[in-house]
Amino acid sequence: MEKIILTGDRPTGRLHIGHYVGSLRRRVELQNSGEFDKIFIMIADAQALTDNFDNPEKIRQNILEVALDYLSCGLDPTKSNLFIQSQISELTELTFYYMNLVTVSRLQRNPTVKSEIQMRNFEASIPVGFFNYPISQAADITAFKATVVPVGEDQLPMIEQTREIVRKFNSIYGEVLVEPDVLLPDNQACLRLPGTDGKAKMSKSLGNCIYLADDPKEVQKKIMSMYTDPLHIQVSDPGHLEGNTAFIYLDAFCKPEHFAEFWPEYANLDEVKEHYTRGGLGDVKVKKFLNKIMESELAPIRARRKEYEKDIPMVYDILKEGTERAREVAAKTLDEVKAAMKINYFDDASLIAEQAKRYAK
Ligand code: TRP
Repeated sequence: MEKIILTGDRPTGRLHIGHYVGSLRRRVELQNSGEFDKIFIMIADAQALTDNFDNPEKIRQNILEVALDYLSCGLDPTKSNLFIQSQISELTELTFYYMNLVTVSRLQRNPTVKSEIQMRNFEASIPVGFFNYPISQAADITAFKATVVPVGEDQLPMIEQTREIVRKFNSIYGEVLVEPDVLLPDNQACLRLPGTDGKAKMSKSLGNCIYLADDPKEVQKKIMSMYTDPLHIQVSDPGHLEGNTAFIYLDAFCKPEHFAEFWPEYANLDEVKEHYTRGGLGDVKVKKFLNKIMESELAPIRARRKEYEKDIPMVYDILKEGTERAREVAAKTLDEVKAAMKINYFDDASLIAEQAKRYAK
């Protein structure tokens, strides 16, 4: 069986380092591993509209931002198909048929939808489109017969729901769809990178994000004012690592070679942690180290972004070509789905012949 990746992001804003360690960095590694036959990376504008339908301009503007973030992280359009969800109407058609296979109560139990409904104060008036988005996500994944879906932890319930839809479809209509596996970040710190204020999640509305497109000064400012350990008042005080944003970021970004390069006084992160908890190591030193590491990771991303920013029409060409290729694949799956569901009347010569024979008698 072919190894196929599908994943994507809602274009509601620029991507930040939480997206990067949670998913983007891994996608680039997977792309460059050469282990996959096809890779589809989707800008999920139709899904973004399910809770931003009253702000279409925001989605329209952010398609380019997300595309630039993708390309600048190293997604290579010759290896990965970058495409725009709404331009593939086959996905909407698949969604419509999958809706028959899911109950309202099952959607209500989806933990991600549940918490999003609360977050958006939708309780009393949930738009049907929003409520339905896990089904549309199943269409995104199955249209490409994805075997692997690299996503953040919050997307687990979506993949589980997709697998259920696949099993149900295949058991009723025959083996057409492929059950995908989820691929989560392997490092605990990367599963859900906290905001610079120590709050559980990076989010634009909380103003606690470091964006991939931030300039070095902004990054430095955000790191130097980052939340650490409120009990670590004097350098000599013992510091605490739990909930300490600077150390969580180090867990997510630090590599062994960074010590020789940026902080030769220590051999590895464990030594730094040990000194910090013992007392005698100040936050400023830790943050300066973190800033150097982040710069080494973000500088090449920023430089690539600058190059792509010079040719925006080319970026749209990349998306257009990716969308055309993706559409061919989705159309083939939709044909198979319709045949399995017996709604391929005009293509089914045997149906017409059989009925003609019946009426000829
Ligand atoms: N739900 C994802 C997000 O919030 C975006 C998305 C849409 C997606 N369809 C998908 C991710 C299919 C993986 C697979 O960013």
